[in-house]
Amino acid sequence: MFYSDLEFAPNTLFLVTGGAGFIGSNLCEAILKMGYKVRCLDNLSTGKQENVNLFIENSDYEFIKGDITDLEICMAACKGVDYVLNQAAWGSVPRSIEMPLYYEKVNIKGTLNMMEAARQNGVKKFVYASSSSVYGDETGLPKREGKEGNLLSPYALTKRVDEEYGKLYYKLYGLDTYGLRYFNVFGRRQDPNGAYAAVIPKFIKQLLDGEVPTINGDGKQSRDFTYVENVIEANLKACKASSEVAGQAFNIAYGGREYLIDIYHYLAKALGKEDIEPHFGPDRAGDIKHSNADISKAKRLLGYNPEWDFERGIKAAIEWYKDNL
Ligand SMILES: NC(=O)c1ccc[n+]([C@@H]2O[C@H](COP(=O)([O-])OP(=O)(O)OC[C@H]3O[C@@H](n4cnc5c(N)ncnc54)[C@H](O)[C@@H]3O)[C@@H](O)[C@H]2O)c1
Repeated sequence: MFYSDLEFAPNTLFLVTGGAGFIGSNLCEAILKMGYKVRCLDNLSTGKQENVNLFIENSDYEFIKGDITDLEICMAACKGVDYVLNQAAWGSVPRSIEMPLYYEKVNIKGTLNMMEAARQNGVKKFVYASSSSVYGDETGLPKREGKEGNLLSPYALTKRVDEEYGKLYYKLYGLDTYGLRYFNVFGRRQDPNGAYAAVIPKFIKQLLDGEVPTINGDGKQSRDFTYVENVIEANLKACKASSEVAGQAFNIAYGGREYLIDIYHYLAKALGKEDIEPHFGPDRAGDIKHSNADISKAKRLLGYNPEWDFERGIKAAIEWYKDNL
């Protein structure tokens, strides 16, 4: 288990922005399990109070309800912090196409505020969530850092700008920044509800409820679906990474590729709902056909070594949803 290989000084304090969301709450949980302190900053816009309530009784956990678009709040949240894991953002490519101005405000201005607050508070490492969407229309596989195409959505642009600020804050101010380009993360506590829900939790919930899921396009699109535990590992390893490799972005995935239609049938079988045939809808704007990651850079420079392949992850996710939906 990677946790046991990672040691930080006693009383180390992590700040997780977006800690009431899917990935952020999993990070908070891992840090508490390791015996360190965690402060969560979240405005509960897409995050959930119940993901705060899980830890609120723990004296190593602190919750600040606040917005990363407010620099004063970011400054207060960074006081005394050793490591920032910046997850707060608005996700979803299609939603960003509908409301680009809001994405600019939260994902760019908010992340910049957090970098500035981290710099002024002498934070040791600033690790932030980027996204595979920065590869845009580049069709070559696997996706490799340095080979990005034209962007396809405002969301992707916000993540690319964040990476440019990450580079600058390292070069100009010596803040150790590490951008983690997550590829289609899934796992416990990912929200299955709403028009912009990710496909795995959405299908699981619909199947469990006996509804007919809609697959956008022909289902023959493929993605490097990545179990959340691997993302936790990447964040914690980045906190331990050398300053020499700061200012860069890294692919964070398992390095595999699953077809949507196969995932659908896998889930239907696992949930005993093979009788439900999916509905096929139109392709989604801003989507690419295939995606999978070359993770050799993160392996080499961060010591990232993902332990959860798709099969192991999906089994764990299904079990969690069966017990928690
Ligand atoms: N889930 C994925 O597959 C995936 C893939 C690539 C990148 N990412 C990135 O990972 C990060 C976490 O994503 P997630 O899937 O956990 O999403 P999520 O929506 O579950 O979590 C995001 C959290 O940020 C909070 N937040 C949003 N705006 C905020 C603001 N202005 N101030 C404070 N808090 C704010 C939300 O309330 C929420 O709790 C995001 O940066 C996202 O872009 C996720």
